[in-house]
Amino acid sequence: MSKNFDVIVIGGGPGGYIAAIRAAQLGFNVACIDEWKNAKGGPALGGTCTNVGCIPSKALLQSSEHFDQASHHFADHGISVSGLEMDVAKMIARKDIVVKQNNDGIQYLFKKNKVTFFHGRGTFVAAKDGGYELTVGEESLVGKHVIVATGSNARALPGTPFDEELVLSNDGALRVGAVPKKLGLIGSGVIGLEMGSVWRRLGSEVTILEGLPTFLGAVDEQIAKEAKKAFDKQGLKINLGVKVGEIKTGKKGVNIAYTDAKGEAQSLDVDKLIVSIGRVPNTIGLGADAVGLALDERGAIVVDGDCKTNLPNVWAIGDVVRGPMLAHKAEEEGVAVAERIAGQHGHVNFNTVPWVIYTNPEIAWVGQTEQQLKGAGRAYKAGTFPFLANGRARALGDTTGMVKMLADATTDEILGVHIVGPQASELIAECVMAMEFRASAEDIARICHAHPSLSESTKEAALAVDKRTLNF
Ligand code: FAD
Ligand code: NAI
Repeated sequence: MSKNFDVIVIGGGPGGYIAAIRAAQLGFNVACIDEWKNAKGGPALGGTCTNVGCIPSKALLQSSEHFDQASHHFADHGISVSGLEMDVAKMIARKDIVVKQNNDGIQYLFKKNKVTFFHGRGTFVAAKDGGYELTVGEESLVGKHVIVATGSNARALPGTPFDEELVLSNDGALRVGAVPKKLGLIGSGVIGLEMGSVWRRLGSEVTILEGLPTFLGAVDEQIAKEAKKAFDKQGLKINLGVKVGEIKTGKKGVNIAYTDAKGEAQSLDVDKLIVSIGRVPNTIGLGADAVGLALDERGAIVVDGDCKTNLPNVWAIGDVVRGPMLAHKAEEEGVAVAERIAGQHGHVNFNTVPWVIYTNPEIAWVGQTEQQLKGAGRAYKAGTFPFLANGRARALGDTTGMVKMLADATTDEILGVHIVGPQASELIAECVMAMEFRASAEDIARICHAHPSLSESTKEAALAVDKRTLNF
């Protein structure tokens, strides 16, 4: 006997669990299927983000930041520390507790919102009775609407599978048991920089090999340059424009043969290697063929701007579809799809999806970069304000970086904001909101910001757009 639901969500990551909760709030009878297992084989809701992504990486970044502060910065405040040690096992155990709190939190939210949870792999069987039949283990479910939110997996280098001991994906990278003396990373993208920072702060000699000749090509050039200066100072060795060759693993660790930017053959020996070269959409075991669900050449589920697939009443959201692979983008799509199923007009504004890289300094941005505006031939004005001139940043002892605002030359509408520096992840929220409301730089410049606060730098960058900063 099949169990019938109005909406079945496959995947309990940030896209799926949020879609399930919103659909339940709208009065639907909702099931969510997720196959992630914790160490004991039980459910671990929250997907990549909660289990091996956003949450655990930020826990380790926080621990390693405390260690770095105690090692290098407490002395400036007159605090002396002796016998400072890092207990990596404790740090990892704390991270696991943070993850579990989040897993449990989502289970609680499902109960609260009456979402029926099935632990196991959801597989399409056939279109049936105006809906779709799916299996989860022995169970058969039928849903009028199905939302696919099956996420993504780490991309491996061809010929070098992850063994999670020596060659690590994001999963193994978050479980390293001791500080590696030498750590290699391939890819200086978001994971490369965040994970490289964790282990560098704890004392590893970190070398990142990046294929592209430009550092953080998607980031505003001025901001990327400023960030690179800070990472160089921290001792993160970032080699750009390399071509990775053969990778050998053995008792002594990992050897990576590569060609450097000058075309010269090089060899790197490391204790562990993290491969962070992007992620691939995940449809493994979904049974897409059984119902004719269309995938593109990258394996992503094909969707239109509203997350509709080629099948009626089948929707797909998050990392398994086009667009940035970010938890908050997946969440927004989940809410919008649940509302569309209810006949409402859910909407996601892709122009105002913020990006944050949680390094030190943090890097955060929303909207267009200066190079994109130039490329599009758009007339713009730019205003920058350095944290060096901000009183709160000086009191914090962290004056790296700047806020940069880009506005339309004629209308003054904000087109992009780019921040490198302390609390950039929090500062960007004001800019996202301003852009959502199509604010002008002048609007921000005329808003009263608390003193002393880092947010005054955003106001000053807005003033700088009109060449009238007050504190620089
Ligand atoms: P996922 O989170 O991948 O969830 C998919 C779920 O579906 C999983 O639980 C999977 O087991 C399950 N599943 C798959 N197939 C089936 C099936 N057939 N049946 C049942 N269950 C199935 N993003 C940010 O915005 N901020 C960050 O700070 C950030 N940090 C990150 C750090 C790392 C190291 C990594 C790897 C990623 C990070 N991301 C971050 C990206 C973020 O994790 C993803 O964008 C987000 O998890 C995507 O959500 P999702 O719901 O689409 O998929
Ligand atoms: P990424 O796309 O951010 O970076 C991959 C990097 O690897 C790129 O710079 C690319 O040029 C390089 N690369 C690709 N192939 C290569 C090769 N063969 N040799 C050398 N370099 C190569 O991908 P990453 O870091 O794996 O992260 C995946 C995704 O996860 C991110 O794009 C992001 O969507 C998400 N994420 C988000 C975070 C956040 O929001 N703070 C944190 C971590 C991940």
